[in-house]
Amino acid sequence: MKASQFFISTLKEAPADAEVKSHQLMMRAGFIKRLGAGIYSYMPMGLRVIRKVEAIIREEMNRAGAVELLMPVVQPAELWQETGRFQKYGPELLRLKDRHDRDFVIQPTSEEVITDIARQELRSYRALPKNFYHIQTKFRDERRPRFGVMRGREFTMKDAYSFDRDVAAASKSYDQMYAAYTRIFERMGLTFRAVAADNGSIGGVRSHEFQVIADTGEDAIIYCPTSDYAANIEMAEAIAPATPRAAPGAALTKTPTPGKATCEDVAELLGVPLTRTVKSLVLATDESDKAGDVTKSTVWLLLVRGDHALNEIKAGKVAGLEGGFRFATAAEIESHFGCKPGYLGPIQLRKPVKIVADRTVAQMSDFICGANDADFHYTGVNWVRDLPEPDVVADIRNVVVGDPSPDGRGVLAIQRGIEVGHVFLLGSYYSEKMNATYLDEAGKPQLMQMGCYGIGVTRILGAAIEQNCDDRGIVWPAAIAPFTLVICPIGYDRSADVRAAADKLHDELLADGVDVILDDRGERPGAMFADWELIGVPHRVVISDRGLKEGTVEVQGRRDPQANKIALADLSSALKAKLAA
Ligand SMILES: Nc1ncnc2c1ncn2[C@@H]1O[C@H](COP(=O)(O)OP(=O)(O)O)[C@@H](O)[C@H]1O
Ligand SMILES: [Mg+2]
Repeated sequence: MKASQFFISTLKEAPADAEVKSHQLMMRAGFIKRLGAGIYSYMPMGLRVIRKVEAIIREEMNRAGAVELLMPVVQPAELWQETGRFQKYGPELLRLKDRHDRDFVIQPTSEEVITDIARQELRSYRALPKNFYHIQTKFRDERRPRFGVMRGREFTMKDAYSFDRDVAAASKSYDQMYAAYTRIFERMGLTFRAVAADNGSIGGVRSHEFQVIADTGEDAIIYCPTSDYAANIEMAEAIAPATPRAAPGAALTKTPTPGKATCEDVAELLGVPLTRTVKSLVLATDESDKAGDVTKSTVWLLLVRGDHALNEIKAGKVAGLEGGFRFATAAEIESHFGCKPGYLGPIQLRKPVKIVADRTVAQMSDFICGANDADFHYTGVNWVRDLPEPDVVADIRNVVVGDPSPDGRGVLAIQRGIEVGHVFLLGSYYSEKMNATYLDEAGKPQLMQMGCYGIGVTRILGAAIEQNCDDRGIVWPAAIAPFTLVICPIGYDRSADVRAAADKLHDELLADGVDVILDDRGERPGAMFADWELIGVPHRVVISDRGLKEGTVEVQGRRDPQANKIALADLSSALKAKLAA
């Protein structure tokens, strides 16, 4: 490839809205161009990386026995109504109407369409197992599209769906995908970790996220450095304290705390550690009739230790909260607690409130909480003596660094990650709703057991750059670089010798199957080098008149501190060795 025939467009400055390095560098290096919020054109240089990412995914998916097909971007709403997701999916689902006023969606994912295909095509146990995948455009109307392709609204995903005859077989398909994902991200040269993840509303089955480790990652991932425990913070279990609840030691005292509405402020005022305080969070649940009108609301008080944070995913698994909850209104808080937020607590309630204590809180004694009286807190609070045992004791908080690992083999640490892949054992969640059955050996219909497996193709570009860049630009892992090697001739437009040597090397490398680009634009050396360092091509060969006179060229890897002079006669073997390394 000659640069003059390709398209190169670099910028000195990143646009102001690019917050993270990967977004800034992708814009500056001309990989993407913004069309609207979360919507980008993939420019020629960026598309080359996408194609390499896709090629690795295809190879490994095919090797793992999956079969590629391609499902439509625009999908009729009927299938989405069958599973209830047309209503349930929320505002991320882009719904639209055609000229006949029929409802459609732009796919955020394809469980419905593939299950519809499977129930028509996979009729017998003989047709199973089957794993279908495609690499296709997705649209999710994200509330906060940001970081360029990392959280776009339109993006490319590889999504695969496995169909099996029973849970054991589905589990095997899941394991195969897990192994394939590991190979895929290893081949891409990424540093990543597979972590146990939440199953969303599907419950009870397995799920793992593949997280690329990066400080700018949106996800907090928890791991144990002395065992192989790893989980998304949404999921990581905070086990109950090993020490039992101590006997009461202090008297219950109503203490003035004027203007101190947070645990931090109260602890500071009273001169006690934050770990002695308890935070109150008020939620509500609604029951409604067939017409959807609310018939009854319940107010819930969730208690976590002052230095801990509520985990809403875990709270959503508490019996009674699984159907969904909301924050209580000011009126509900006033009528149940007789007090404004900031001084709420579990003692002296006006109306019945369901009390859920975090495991840690349930084991505390002599603690401090709001007194349901503005500007007052109770100190010396003790379960049983001062208030009944909580209605529910559950793990409802985020783990923190230093918590014991749930596997009992160390303490937990935390890292940030970018979710590039997600494998999910679905069970019969979709096959039941869509009646996807096969006939077993006895001719009896049985539900298919499913799994689904996503990879964020375009997000991988952002994640790879977050992990591989320096102050000069991107440093692509060789396997997904837009080009493997760039030839930078100095004076291509002026020197016949340089031009001849550069063209010759270009043609030889091409013939050897090297993904090479020759910069024949006639740029000044400084500008030319800066462009290729920004773009992040792993290897550079500089050809100059001065070098040719002494029979050498300069070869430099993107991470090498300096160039190596190589004799022309040795160039071919030297490059082969370098590219193979
Ligand atoms: N808005 C987005 N922009 C880019 N990639 C995305 C986006 N949402 C999801 N992905 C990618 O698609 C993969 C599968 O998506 P999924 O797990 O269904 O999404 P989520 O974790 O947001 O529920 C994710 O692991 C991620 O790599
Ligand atoms: Mg996910």
